[in-house]
Amino acid sequence: MIEINPTSHDKIVKIIMYNNQLEIELTNYGCTILKFLAPDKFDKMGDVVLGYDSITEYQQQDGYLGAIVGRVANRIKKGKFILNGIEYSLAINNGPNHLHGGIEGFSYKIFDYLILNENSIRFTYISADMEEGYPGELTLNVIYTLSGNSLMITYNAYTTKDTIINITNHSYFNLSNCADNICQHSLRVDADEIACIDEDGLPTGKFLCVKNTPFDFNEQKILKEQINKKHEQMLLGKGIDHPFIFKSKENQVELFDTDSGRKLTVSSTLPGAQIYTGNFLDGRKGKDNKHYFKHAGICIETQNLPDAIHIEKNPSTILRKNDIYEETTIYTFNVIK
Ligand code: GAL
Repeated sequence: MIEINPTSHDKIVKIIMYNNQLEIELTNYGCTILKFLAPDKFDKMGDVVLGYDSITEYQQQDGYLGAIVGRVANRIKKGKFILNGIEYSLAINNGPNHLHGGIEGFSYKIFDYLILNENSIRFTYISADMEEGYPGELTLNVIYTLSGNSLMITYNAYTTKDTIINITNHSYFNLSNCADNICQHSLRVDADEIACIDEDGLPTGKFLCVKNTPFDFNEQKILKEQINKKHEQMLLGKGIDHPFIFKSKENQVELFDTDSGRKLTVSSTLPGAQIYTGNFLDGRKGKDNKHYFKHAGICIETQNLPDAIHIEKNPSTILRKNDIYEETTIYTFNVIK
């Protein structure tokens, strides 16, 4: 079922999607997931994402809590790139680099919406040619579909000129619903390689084989034990803040919290995910007066390789005029008793 409720902000609504297993609260502001309620091992529903109490906080704060991020997620070196021989300049909004689509990326836009059926809603945003410095008028559709114990997010986009695109959802998960951080969660990621980052969080173009490093999550590992290990990349990221390169095509990531019994499985058509253990959370006030400090949540940002335009020979983030970008990520909740 889907219910739409107005807010005190013009054109911004809250949307509740629910079935007998999950309940999700969304808004068309940044296509943001405000609440994600899933059952624990005692069948008690609990919110498993970080967020704020008011829309105003989403408008004013950084951190991208629950939001869709684009036109290009993560960093672009020095905010400059060349496409078809033309150099484009984007805003520098993170150290020396461009981050998450610029000063006012998609996370800060009001999307149109259309209920497709009792389980699906489509959000649409048309990004003008040269918005935030990116070429081409880009039409982005984001479809949220609730089905049983899964939420499926499908993205599709097309452009009037060749451009670059890398869309993700930036939800911070904390499956316990009450612990201050995700340190006791365990993580599995189907990846033999991560992209190395520099001190600004920008991928350097080098890759690290995870074997015998704290980034090896091929078998489930408790986060706390890994993020406290002294490894140059862990120190540079202040925790995990790295692109993981998937080696399988489905169910690539699993997050589990023993105390609540909640298990999240992420399955994506995308080739990797930026996994980010909330290292920059600064104690800001979140929902229900709770303060979010370092590691309060973990983001599993499925996407193409960050800064692919500078790193890859055939950058996966280029979207040609007449082509369609289409990707899907499914978030499934189970309980292990
Ligand atoms: C993440 C990124 C982090 C940080 C965060 C927003 O996606 O990997 O380095 O910028 O977003 O605070």
